[in-house]
Amino acid sequence: MVRARTNDLNLVERAAKVLPAGVYGHHSVGMLPSGYPQFFGRAVGARLWDVDGNEYIDYLCGYGTNLFGYGFEPVEQAAAEQRRLGDTMTGPSALMVELAEAFVDMVAHADWAMFCKNGSDATMIALMTARAHTGNATVLVADGAYHGAMPWCTPRQVGVIPADRAHVVTYRYNDAASLRAAFEAHRGDVAAVFAAPYRHDVYADQEDLDLDYAQTARELCDASGALLVVDDVRAGFRIARDCSWAHTGIEPDISAWGKCFANGHPISAVLGNDKARKAAADIYVTGSYWFSAVPMAAALATLRQIRETDYLEKMIVQGQRLRDGLDRQAADQGFALSQTGPAQMPQILFRDDPDFVIGFNWAQLCIEHGVYFHPFHNMFLSHAHDGTVVDETLRRTGMAFEALRGSHARLSEGETSALKRRIAERAASSD
Ligand SMILES: Cc1ncc(COP(=O)(O)O)c(C=O)c1O
Repeated sequence: MVRARTNDLNLVERAAKVLPAGVYGHHSVGMLPSGYPQFFGRAVGARLWDVDGNEYIDYLCGYGTNLFGYGFEPVEQAAAEQRRLGDTMTGPSALMVELAEAFVDMVAHADWAMFCKNGSDATMIALMTARAHTGNATVLVADGAYHGAMPWCTPRQVGVIPADRAHVVTYRYNDAASLRAAFEAHRGDVAAVFAAPYRHDVYADQEDLDLDYAQTARELCDASGALLVVDDVRAGFRIARDCSWAHTGIEPDISAWGKCFANGHPISAVLGNDKARKAAADIYVTGSYWFSAVPMAAALATLRQIRETDYLEKMIVQGQRLRDGLDRQAADQGFALSQTGPAQMPQILFRDDPDFVIGFNWAQLCIEHGVYFHPFHNMFLSHAHDGTVVDETLRRTGMAFEALRGSHARLSEGETSALKRRIAERAASSD
């Protein structure tokens, strides 16, 4: 399938001159097969159009930000009404209190909320609160987990000095003994344990939360006075209408939220219990746009939809239909997939694909057939991914699988060897 690329390639060339890395961070397509468009023109529901007008069914949803689909009318209407009244003013609007009340009502462990812009702000506030609460420095984080791009946690070391990481200690996710050992090694100095809702690392099968690990984290924090932080920035409200650990009955002291709860409008949140209230009140954190009213109006409208619709149950059903359909198609063409994580947040890798070459080729073919999948990061369904969208996806992926069987060599030789090099480097650095 030949897609127009002229506008995209032209923009990529212009970007290289005026943006130091072209597009940077997780929105850069630098780590993806070369067929991925970098720039987009518009998005509606479950669909995206690139700047050349090519259409894709999108399984990234703005990396999770769009829970009800792009341009979801009830949320856009609430945002537009508030925009007419005022957005970034000299102080917050009444919506800030309403939004905090809504969160405290919905999330069982929360007695208070604070709002900011990005997930990285939220995890930073969680970290500062825990240090203020305990007077301790050490933060325990799971090996390979992502908590944002601040110096204390950004995955790349460039521009980071050892002092930024001096008190960040890793343990193995889902491994109670490893967490216990990390606590023991830093006895008396642990401020916080950070935990993802489940293991959602890149380039890896996703792992369900182990209850013994979660219980151990709670007990070690209780015994030492450290705070337990669940980082729900990625999975928030895609697992539960509460904190993602709610089903376990184990409550964190703090949870960090972002991405999804204003359906694409820029706002994130930190929720905490009364134990952490004073410390959260004492730290100084702020931002010029943290108090803007429009994203808060969008958040209130989104939370209402979360409470009042069966969006979650429907996403799970459609995610499972997609998963079953892809498994069948893969098997028909002689491939085996490893599909892990919740069906509504799928990670799709290929078995027997240690260098990820088959997966990258398939992702490239999916792009060519109008499905935007990610070859190594978990993906996201939204409420807009209904039965019709999933059927259309499967029609397109069926063609991608047929093409994959016909030829594995969709990536150029240069791309394939760069990918193998990257994977080997990654394996070496995680030893
Ligand atoms: C688990 C987790 N924590 C924190 C962040 C950082 O969020 P943001 O990119 O909004 O700063 C992310 C972003 O993907 C995330 O997945």
